[in-house]
Amino acid sequence: MTAELMQKLNLPDLMTLNDGTPVRQASQWPLRRAELIDLLSREEYGYTPKAPSRVEGAIVSGDDNAFAGKAVQQRIELTFDTPAGSFTFPMMLTYPKADRAVPVFVNVAFRPDLPERYCPLEEIIDRGYALASFCYTDVTADGAEIDGLAVKYPVDEKTGWGKIGMWAFACSRVLDYLEDRPEIDSARAAVVGHSRLGKTALWCGAQDERFSMVISNDSGCSGAAITRNKVGEKIADITDRFPFWFCGNYRNWRGREDEMPFEQHMLLALVAPRLLYVCSADQDQWAHPENEFLGCCAASPAWRLLRLPGLITDGRMPELNAPLHDGSVCYHVRPGTHFFSRTDWNYQMDCRDRHGV
Ligand code: GCU
Repeated sequence: MTAELMQKLNLPDLMTLNDGTPVRQASQWPLRRAELIDLLSREEYGYTPKAPSRVEGAIVSGDDNAFAGKAVQQRIELTFDTPAGSFTFPMMLTYPKADRAVPVFVNVAFRPDLPERYCPLEEIIDRGYALASFCYTDVTADGAEIDGLAVKYPVDEKTGWGKIGMWAFACSRVLDYLEDRPEIDSARAAVVGHSRLGKTALWCGAQDERFSMVISNDSGCSGAAITRNKVGEKIADITDRFPFWFCGNYRNWRGREDEMPFEQHMLLALVAPRLLYVCSADQDQWAHPENEFLGCCAASPAWRLLRLPGLITDGRMPELNAPLHDGSVCYHVRPGTHFFSRTDWNYQMDCRDRHGV
């Protein structure tokens, strides 16, 4: 059972302040939240710089009758100031024609062919949602290169932000811009990504409380999965191949998972009281679905502190294609391998419809 496993794993305590005071009341959460962001910044993802005061968007091309007239689609260049001059990256916005502002997905995507070919955009539009997507490598390369946004801010070797932090920052800049668009209901914005970009969506949504929903698809190690006792990828694996995703300090925890003062349930808990949705695929053992589920269970006390249900579960891993959508933390595991499938998108939309976020 999950409760016993959590005890055995001896996870660092979500509900104790750094000075040892137990967190028992909702009024203590903002302080604990700040402590957790600081901890995860220092040890894992690096510190995020201050947001720019304004993001400008220039529509560079568009189609007012996309999808046979059902939608509007625009390619937009976003520009904002940084300490080293302005930075610009492209995004694609598609929204259904409607008589009111529509909720939106902010999707950090892998491929430059926006919207991504695997993204079921027509279904998204037909269900009344907009999609704002950008390709992550238009922000900075997925490698050790110091390019794009990475050039614009000074980076401390141990605690400076890694690439996940930069991509997450870009998701927030998309929302800055969407707040100025009357067609979009920016109070109903979900940040979503798959795999390394699922880790990105979680880190973005953990920090940026304007997102009403945060969705992780197959994010695994350093995402939704508890690191202790994890199968598949471990900190040594991820920091060997992708050291540039994180801050320098993360390497200190290679092979020392059990000693870490932080854990991934802390990342998930930072989404409270907003809606969190973690999605897994049963054959994706590198990501480890069971530990992603465990992450949801272990993060749930944060919602309960705020008088909301966390994950509603009997503590057992759910059946395939039996999504848990009743609580403020939602979870599903679908059959198949590591992929952001139509099934995942549809479950995510079912969940949004149901919660109205
Ligand atoms: C690698 C990496 C994972 C990551 C995945 C992806 O498999 O080890 O941590 O999630 O790439 O982004 O597809």
